[in-house]
Amino acid sequence: MHLTKQDRLFVLTGAGISAESGLATFRGSGGLWNGYRVEEVATPEAWAADPALVWHFYSQRRHNASAAQPNAAHLALAQIERQLGDRFYLCTQNVDDLHERAGSQRIHHMHGNLFQSRCTQCNQPFPDTDVYETAAALPRCSNCGAPVRPHIVWFGEIPLDMDTIYDKLNQATVLLVVGTSGSVYPAAGLVHIANQKRTHTIYIGPEEPLNHQAFDEILLGPASEVLPSLF
Ligand code: APR
Repeated sequence: MHLTKQDRLFVLTGAGISAESGLATFRGSGGLWNGYRVEEVATPEAWAADPALVWHFYSQRRHNASAAQPNAAHLALAQIERQLGDRFYLCTQNVDDLHERAGSQRIHHMHGNLFQSRCTQCNQPFPDTDVYETAAALPRCSNCGAPVRPHIVWFGEIPLDMDTIYDKLNQATVLLVVGTSGSVYPAAGLVHIANQKRTHTIYIGPEEPLNHQAFDEILLGPASEVLPSLF
């Protein structure tokens, strides 16, 4: 695909782009929620009922993400960004840091960041790579003493900074979506917004997403194989 100097690329990624780095996707066999019901670990109700279980789950995810390495798909997006500069914007549903470690800079984590925590009272996110695996180890705010939670957008919560996302999408001429099942909104609805503006839309992944009918092009295959040769 050829991009001109007028083109602006908006990329949306999901768990599938990190699958080849060894991080489990959410849905499908081998998915992350296997063994955990989502309501047990990724909702405000779960946090209220059992913060130790929630922290145990996210501690495991911190551990797994730290051990993983960016793959060819993450690297390809960082390379495209170096060519496009401000005409590139990456919105990810992923909470891992593999895009950053691959070199991406213009990136927004709409579902939060695995390596940040925030005080439930002060609400300010801060960097945090620690793991909290026992009830005795549960973290508290150094300012006010309130419980500290993962800086993750749970089911039932509103994704971060949707205004900027819609703004960037409105400026884009191409929407590239990689490795997401198209089942969680509002992320799954971005392609419909792009269609209203006749923005060209492309999906990359080994199988069609739920919202496949909304895309102009579907490129079937693993992201690490399809993405590096796309532009
Ligand atoms: N390359 C590209 N895509 C892949 C690959 C691969 N190598 N392997 C799997 N996929 C695709 C699958 O086909 C699937 O469509 O990745 C997708 C993963 O889908 P989900 O597990 O549903 O992940 P995602 O869409 O990112 O989930 C959205 O749901 O659980 C919440 O907040 C969580 O951000 C997450 C959101």
